[in-house]
Amino acid sequence: MAASRDVWVLHGPNLGLLGRREPELYGRNALAAIDKRLAALGEELGLNVTSFQTNHEGALIDRLTIAMDEADGCLLNPAAFTHTSLALADTLRSVTIPVVEVHLTNLYARERERQTSLTGSAVRGVIMGLGAMSYDLGLRALDALLRAGKRGRGQGR
Ligand code: DQA
Repeated sequence: MAASRDVWVLHGPNLGLLGRREPELYGRNALAAIDKRLAALGEELGLNVTSFQTNHEGALIDRLTIAMDEADGCLLNPAAFTHTSLALADTLRSVTIPVVEVHLTNLYARERERQTSLTGSAVRGVIMGLGAMSYDLGLRALDALLRAGKRGRGQGR
């Protein structure tokens, strides 16, 4: 069956360094390996998965805004912007497609400043603390939301 839903995976700052970046925290998988797995899982689920990484707040906001018209759902790891970006939270509150936020680490078990999230209350759900599996489960959750059929491109959050 041909892929029928478009899901964008958006990775925030420093996630391009995965595999080399604090591997004891973030694991040894490179971002490309995570994206490859997501693409394969997407194919299984009938989702057309496109991944994008940026270190720039504005670029992430631009992507999310475009996703409203060009994607059916979005998997987002805002990385450090989770804790700092009111602008990103504002965009998330305006986005009309379901967004599932994921984190490799458990933010509640991290430093105090990472225990505050500006984005978490602006998305459909958050999956964290499971390493690369957070992404897999996030994609499955998005698939379930899209299958439930209530929400998708242009249909509201
Ligand atoms: C992260 C957690 C953030 O606090 C951190 O800034 C990241 C990665 C995670 O996936 O665990 O860059 O989002």
